[in-house]
Amino acid sequence: PPAAHPRPARGGVRAPTRAAIAAGHLRTDRWWVPPATTAAGLFAFVVYSTWRAFADADYYAAPYVSPFYSPCLAQRCRPMHAGPNWDLFGGWWGISPAIIILVFPLGFRLTCYYYRKAYYRAFWAAPPACAVAEPHRTYTGEARFPLVLQNLHRYFFYAALLVAGVLTYDTVLAFRDPRYHWGHMGLGTVVFLVNIVLIWAYTLSCHSCRHIVGGRLKHFSQHPVRYRMWQFIGRLNARHMQLAWASLASVALADLYVYLLASGVFDDPRFF
Ligand code: FES
Repeated sequence: PPAAHPRPARGGVRAPTRAAIAAGHLRTDRWWVPPATTAAGLFAFVVYSTWRAFADADYYAAPYVSPFYSPCLAQRCRPMHAGPNWDLFGGWWGISPAIIILVFPLGFRLTCYYYRKAYYRAFWAAPPACAVAEPHRTYTGEARFPLVLQNLHRYFFYAALLVAGVLTYDTVLAFRDPRYHWGHMGLGTVVFLVNIVLIWAYTLSCHSCRHIVGGRLKHFSQHPVRYRMWQFIGRLNARHMQLAWASLASVALADLYVYLLASGVFDDPRFF
């Protein structure tokens, strides 16, 4: 007898070897809401961070430095230096210093297991949701160029540790007043504290971190410290998606706060 759903012989989920279902999906819920929300959130962050990264202005308001520009490695950051001089890039560096450093946190997030799922679904519809057919005719996974580069994630993790260390240092410097006297606290200090807690929680909840800490062990009983750390990271890891979004929002808000101070919209309220 003829097939119930005669279909053209082509690739992807329409290939003759796949289940003969004519409909693109059989879901009746609003499955498109999560990928649409993800696309809107990531798009908003990309627009905002691109604008700020290329702005090359308003990234320092004593004693705060924007996390998008830290560590500031170009000589053109000199006016903001109240701490150590880290200008590895001399006067020849003509564009925004944020471009030098953003590649590391950006690479870390772009190759993150959670963000991969998020943007594969939201932007590439590969697939857009569980049990919803994807439009692509072939699937090569992450075994070929360019997606094989996603495997660099574990190395970006090490870079992210360094960046988180620098942002921690910036948060310590935020306990000064605008004249660089220690022992003070403003609203910006609180903004920086919340941001650095979320940055560390997101970084340590990374799947690569979990593997580095607890992977390749045969007997946890012989490695009690690593076992404890692995348990702790496992609990964070269960919240990786939430931490990914919370830290993305907090780093943008910390930058926005510095921008508003530096551009003179308001003064930092100081508690003591
Ligand atoms: Fe998300 Fe490593 S898996 S940061």
